[in-house]
Formats: sequence, C-alpha cells, structure tokens
Amino acid sequence: MSTEKFVRFPEGFIWGAATSAYQIEGAWNEDGKGPSIWDTFCRIPGKIKDGDTGDVAADHYHRWEEDVGIMVELGLKAYRFSIAWPRIFPEGVGEVNQKGLDFYNRLVDKLLAHGIEPFVTLYHWDLPQALQDKGGWPNRDTAYAFANYAETVAKELGDRVSSWITHNEPFVAALIGHFTGEHAPGIQDPSAAFATAHHILLSHGLAAQAIRASASLKPKVGIVLNLHPIHPASPSEEDKLAAKRFDGLINRMFLDPIFFGKYPEDMLELFGFFLPEIRPGDMDTISIPIDFIGINYYTRIVARSDPEFPLLQASQVYPEGNEYSQMWEIYPPGIYETVIRVWKDYNPPSIFLTENGIPVPDGVDFDGRVRDERRIRYLRNHLLYLHKAISEGAPVKGYFVWSLLDNFEWAHGYSMRFGLVYVDYKTQKRIIKDSGRWYAKVIKENGFALE
Ligand code: FCB
Repeated sequence: MSTEKFVRFPEGFIWGAATSAYQIEGAWNEDGKGPSIWDTFCRIPGKIKDGDTGDVAADHYHRWEEDVGIMVELGLKAYRFSIAWPRIFPEGVGEVNQKGLDFYNRLVDKLLAHGIEPFVTLYHWDLPQALQDKGGWPNRDTAYAFANYAETVAKELGDRVSSWITHNEPFVAALIGHFTGEHAPGIQDPSAAFATAHHILLSHGLAAQAIRASASLKPKVGIVLNLHPIHPASPSEEDKLAAKRFDGLINRMFLDPIFFGKYPEDMLELFGFFLPEIRPGDMDTISIPIDFIGINYYTRIVARSDPEFPLLQASQVYPEGNEYSQMWEIYPPGIYETVIRVWKDYNPPSIFLTENGIPVPDGVDFDGRVRDERRIRYLRNHLLYLHKAISEGAPVKGYFVWSLLDNFEWAHGYSMRFGLVYVDYKTQKRIIKDSGRWYAKVIKENGFALE
C-alpha cells in the first residue's frame, strides 16, 4: 500500500482560472468600444514599461473560441473574466452598444456549453474615459453610472450567469490609481483616492441591488479584495503600529465597511479628513449582505515605522533569506493566514480565492515546451496552505489561478508572465505550460499527492 499522502479538496470544489478584459482582449477600438482610462494612460510616455499598451494584448477578443478550447483542455470548472464597461457603454452611460454585449453573450454561451461556470467581474479597472472626463470615481455620479451598467449587464446575461463580482481590488483602483498614480488615471491626490474608495464601495452596494433586481437566475453577488497578512518588521511598538496602519489601509478599510457598515476608527483618525461626504444610508448600502467574498492573495507585507513615508508613516521591508519573484516575496502561509482571518473576523457565507499566481520569466524550450517549475511549486505550496484552512473549517468554495494566459500586467506591460498558458505576442500562438498540465491534473483528481 502506498504511504503517499493525497491532498484532497472538498467534493464540488470549483477550480478555475482568471483574466480581465483590458489585460487580454485587445480590440481596443473595435465594434463600437469607447476608450477607457487605461487606453488613455498607456499613451502617456513613461507610464508603462517599454511603452506597451493593451491595444492588442493577447488578442482574446478575436481568439476567444480558441481560448475556451484551452479551458476545456485544462478541465476548468469555472472561468473568471471581466466585462469591459466601455464596450457596453462607450460613453459610460446613455446609449448601449449591443455589439459589446454580444461578445460576452457568445462567450458565456460557449462556456456553458462546455460546463464551465462563468464568474463575471463588472469592474476590473477600465473606467470609460468619458466618465473620467466628468471627474471619474472621485465624482459620486460615477457610482450611479456603475449601477446602471450593472443593471444592463445583469438583464442581458443574468438568465445564464449566476456568479457576479462587482469590483476587483478597490484598494488598488483607489490608492494606486489616485494616490501613488502608478495606475490609470494616474492621479496623485489623497482626497481623490479616498473619494474613489468610498464611491467604489457605494457602487458595489448599488450594483448588488441592481443585479439582484434584474437577473432572472438567482444571483450570487460578491466583491474581490486584495488582502495581505501584515507582519511587523520587529517586535518594537513602533513597528507593530506600522503593521496595524498597513492593515488598516489595505485590509480593514475595505473589509469593515462591507461587513460592519463602518470605516475603522483608527483609519478615520488618520484619513477621515480625506473622505468625501458620506450621505445617510451610504454605509447601509455598502454593507448589503453579500453571498461571497473573493480574496486575491499574492504576498504578505512586512512593515516598519517610517516617519518619512506619506500618509501611513510606515513602509515595507523585504526580509533577507526568503524567496522572491519578479514582483513580490513568496510567502505561501499567507494564504492560510488571510483566509482564517477573514473567516474568523468577518464570517462571510463563503470565500473564493479569486486570484493567486506568480510572474516567472518563462521561455520556450528547444522542444516547444515551457517548463515553469517555479510556478508549479508556487501553486502547489499555496494550495497546500489553502487546504489547511479548508480542513480547519474555512468555507472556501473555489480557487482561481491568476492567470489563464500571459497578459498585459498593467504598469509592467508584457514583461511579467503570469499565465498557465504561454502567449507568443508576435504570433499570438498559445502553448500550455507545464504548470497548466499540472493544474489540469489537480483539477481532474481534485487534489494532488504530496511527494
Ligand atoms: C492583481 C490584479 C490582476 C493582476 C494581478 C497580478 O492585483 O487584480 O489584474 O494584475 O494582480
């Protein structure tokens, strides 16, 4: 008898992969699509590595059938993708572009025909430029425009789609888009950042109501947050406070309003000044019960006190002796710590790991294979810790690898490859990497053997 231990996931566990519209679709100005803030931002010299843009990306808009074929080959149970708001409303509001809706209609039909469950994200950062021109997210009206867009999409797809994600990583859209300015729209203004955070949260609640009122299939509605365990760089009181502040800004500033209907006290003390007007009823709208929380987990943050650092008076350190990727420290126990924390502190009805993955400078070997051992190790080690959280009772229902395909990694352009599938950007040829084959086996066996 084999003494091999098998890491088995619960029956019906949803194995998936994720992408987002701007990162894979290309076709930036086809079939009536309006420009988004990323189309604009990529054209500003110096903003994106090597001057890359999402104009073509992985050309998924034209190759979607082939890509669904790859999903079938991998045996995916679910596919998380986002809808490009400016394909549906080129001006953000007003006239609907039916050709945009039809693209997603076809995609959803094809997925369902193969038994792949669509998980639709409504906002993965590509705000219609027309709305940016009217003030963007710092303008409260954008929240209502988003609810209108959500209603339109839910009416169209809500007879077939049941899993809905309102927003992807509001922290990043708010703070990286409007405070550090590394992402579109490239604003550097704390008031704009906190107004964006509040209006995105408000729009989440409004959209959840709109989806529930418009979709004919009973919808499950959630939101995706990027969450990190935060560790102090030393046991000093200063560093502990630094860690608490990071935790406040990145994690609690979004979790607390969604689950408790209020912003954390310590954050209000630090940043309350920057928040926009909070109208009566806003916090009730934001804390409308959700069906699931999506967690994107990549890395932890190690924080130290740093009086020079704006807003937080805390900065990040990178401990020696650990493994790193091209972007982040590799810290597999963090997926466990994050899931357990969210479960214990916020008690969501269910949890999905909506993104987890690693950039690797993959290359094609002499025989046409992509041997991305490092990605396999990353995924395996994270799944091991996810399994531990599940076996302790955390209600995790599914896991999505970021990403199905190599794609446009925002300010890093095409220099970061996250895919289970390699994309040769010159020819748009796809090659399933070794990690993709490995993941297909995990899906088939609903787990993996521990060596
Ligand atoms: C997340 C984003 C996703 C991708 C990964 C690497 O923050 O949601 O679009 O860029 O990081």
